Amino acid sequence: MEGEHASVWKKILKLDKIEFPKYDKCAAKYNPNLKESHSREDRAIKFYGQAAADAQNSRVKEIFQAFVEVETDHLHLSEARLK
Ligand SMILES: [Fe+2]
Repeated sequence: MEGEHASVWKKILKLDKIEFPKYDKCAAKYNPNLKESHSREDRAIKFYGQAAADAQNSRVKEIFQAFVEVETDHLHLSEARLK
């Protein structure tokens, strides 16, 4: 899903390629990975929310707001699994 978001921006910004950062390997246990995922979703929601608030272009604002909704769904999924 996050790769799809990057593809949207790649298309809008007419980029040739997106360089993804290298991440550490996943933890061997399920819960630490889920907590890391939850933290990333939370950061994404805050980032996209601020970007939507700052956007001057109505279409760009709409896209950022849509990403907030998608990431909020992801957050709820990880919250349900962390219980
Ligand atoms: Fe997400």
